[in-house]
Amino acid sequence: MKLHRGPSSVDSTPDASLADIAAAAEPMPLWSRVKRLLGIDTAQRKYAYGNDPRFGYISDSRVADTWTKTTCGYCSVGCGMLVGTRNGKPVAARGNPDHPVNRGKLCPKGLSEHHILNAPGRATTPMLRRGGRGTPLVPVSWDEALDVMLSRIGALQRENGNETLGVIGTGQLLTEEFYTLGKLVQLGFRTRNYDGNTTLCMASAVSGYKLSFGSDGPPGAYADMETADVVLLVGSNIADNHPILCNRLRKKPGQVLIVADPRVTKTAMMADIHLPLKPRSDIALLNGIAHILLRDGMVDRDYIATHTEAFDTFASFVQDFTPEHVSAVTGLPAETIERVAHLYGTAKAAFIGWTMGVNHSTQGAVTVAAINNLALITGNIGRSGASPFSITGQCNAMGTRESGFTSALPGYRKFDSVSDRDELAAIWGISADRLPTARGLAYPDIIEAAVAKRVKALWFIATNPVVSFPNYKLLEQALTTAEFVVVQDGFFLTPTSEFADLVLPAAIWGEKEGTYTNSERRISKVNAFSKPPGEARPDFDIFLALADRLGLREELYPGWHTTHDAWLEWQRVSAGRLCDYSPFTWQQIEDLGGMQWGGDRLYGDGSFPREGGRALLHCVPCLPFTEQPDAEYGFILNTGRTVEHWHTRTKTGAIPMLNGMVPNAWLEMNPLDASRLDLRQHDRVDIISRRSTVANVELRITGIIAPGQVFMPFHFAEQNSNLVTLGAFDPISREPNFKQCAVRVEHHRNR
Ligand code: SF4
Ligand code: MOS
Repeated sequence: MKLHRGPSSVDSTPDASLADIAAAAEPMPLWSRVKRLLGIDTAQRKYAYGNDPRFGYISDSRVADTWTKTTCGYCSVGCGMLVGTRNGKPVAARGNPDHPVNRGKLCPKGLSEHHILNAPGRATTPMLRRGGRGTPLVPVSWDEALDVMLSRIGALQRENGNETLGVIGTGQLLTEEFYTLGKLVQLGFRTRNYDGNTTLCMASAVSGYKLSFGSDGPPGAYADMETADVVLLVGSNIADNHPILCNRLRKKPGQVLIVADPRVTKTAMMADIHLPLKPRSDIALLNGIAHILLRDGMVDRDYIATHTEAFDTFASFVQDFTPEHVSAVTGLPAETIERVAHLYGTAKAAFIGWTMGVNHSTQGAVTVAAINNLALITGNIGRSGASPFSITGQCNAMGTRESGFTSALPGYRKFDSVSDRDELAAIWGISADRLPTARGLAYPDIIEAAVAKRVKALWFIATNPVVSFPNYKLLEQALTTAEFVVVQDGFFLTPTSEFADLVLPAAIWGEKEGTYTNSERRISKVNAFSKPPGEARPDFDIFLALADRLGLREELYPGWHTTHDAWLEWQRVSAGRLCDYSPFTWQQIEDLGGMQWGGDRLYGDGSFPREGGRALLHCVPCLPFTEQPDAEYGFILNTGRTVEHWHTRTKTGAIPMLNGMVPNAWLEMNPLDASRLDLRQHDRVDIISRRSTVANVELRITGIIAPGQVFMPFHFAEQNSNLVTLGAFDPISREPNFKQCAVRVEHHRNR
């Protein structure tokens, strides 16, 4: 058998056989040669990455015998896809040509997604540290695993109160699973300390929408990116992070794309106007645009008068944001700011999209409010092409926001509303006093409470905080101080399960059926085409099994057997709410390529879910970010993503065609800084902050990063950017400030 030779052919011997390569276990010379040629660092082999030396070899036919319609399980774009299986084994993934979101296209992650089902490193059996900390995790039965979980958590709760349990969920589960989990956590485990990794990502968008409109819920749709005259993207690198959305831009001749980003991202390169503003000066830019719009009469007086509140205060507040002042704060020429304001103000329909550049900030929630201000004063909301629009992160971040219990009661009900609580309790047939009247701790506060021993049990579901949480040192303290840590995940070993007392193996995308909701509120069907490996079980089954053992299965989940039973109840709970799932059946959703709750767009009638029905304008000061560079730590570190990888690389690291393209982290530095520091292209550097050091990172010297700033991707456990990031959080949303912290960069030293 011949090795299929691609451009990165692994062996110089022309007739290396597959058997040779497969047999070449360490430390045999071929494996070393392969490693050298592929640039595989042995240190990387702790977790199961897709560095298969046979990479590129096609062993079996990829001609599918069956195609299953489903939805991509990575990002929130929510592309429709068809997965081909042959004899029950996934062999191909294609974009669904009939799907309204992606019309047949997929990005590299979607195209290779089927490989994840049989990738190395799947969790296949429950694992327990039977002898306690310091002893190895050993395989145990499900019965033992669940008994131990409930007895350990129960004992800690009896001793310290129910809220000693903190639960960290995810944006990765099915909506039906979030709904099931929310009930289990609140009514079964009776703790309010439940949040999702979505707080690391979209919490500021949620809070910002609530500040302006009175409710969460992205008002626009992807179609608006096609029909807008002006698209302004703020801190949003869709070319890497939501690639298929790029196809929506420039459909309309004459559409102007403006990208505000300190870095010349791939998205900035697509722009007609790139605004390379100073880090965290976006608020000044937004207020400055408002200033010019008001000064030059480019506002919608009728809309303001009928549909907004606090306009006078706002108008006088933005008077100080003159183009000269804003130019000094942002570093952008005053003429450019004038030009952008005029483009936005004279557009028939203007769209503002944002992602992590806005959300990952101690001022994230109010920055969202400042974006909403612009849309409101110009009436650019609720019409085709006209919307402020958060682009979500994970495939089902929206589902958890709507159906979970993280920042609201299910169906965007408010914890502090008596009528909301009464209504929900009535649907469930329980007494309303079993529902919390205020949310519990948010994610960072659960971690801090674990350090302070107020939370002693932690349950992580489909998330990997060791890589994703800021200021790793504090997180490590939380994980080691907590007395019982459960990690429920589709993969083993992960950096987080190294800290686990108990690991529950879960099924993943492709092995479960239900729905995801994407950034534009589109509910899409997700189907199973593969069986979970070994003893791994769908998260839904795990939740039901726990409820069973708690003696609450019939009360919480009467007559439920499948996720469809959860869907039917969730439909009743969401009926009549802004996020109303009741009009659609699973079948309709699948046939039509998803359905948007709320229709094409929200707030078309200018009526907002606040008391009095008007949206609120906010005066948002532009404050300096927390940790400013100084003589010792002279650079501002920015972190972000690359198209080949998904968040903490648990999945994409195991897929050779993705990990092979980007196997390592890197640090971007401007040529002026590099020459000042006498650093050369591809040098190995250490990145040092007040908190810790990321060691041995490849330096990329490039003008895409401005002088004084450096950029690093956050996907890599081995070169974890969160060793150096700052534990500073938005006071409203509790989202971390991942985007700016002070570091210095040195030649790598072996410490
Ligand atoms: Fe999947 Fe997002 Fe890529 Fe679409 S753009 S294929 S949803 S990762
Ligand atoms: Mo973002 S978590 O993925 O809301």
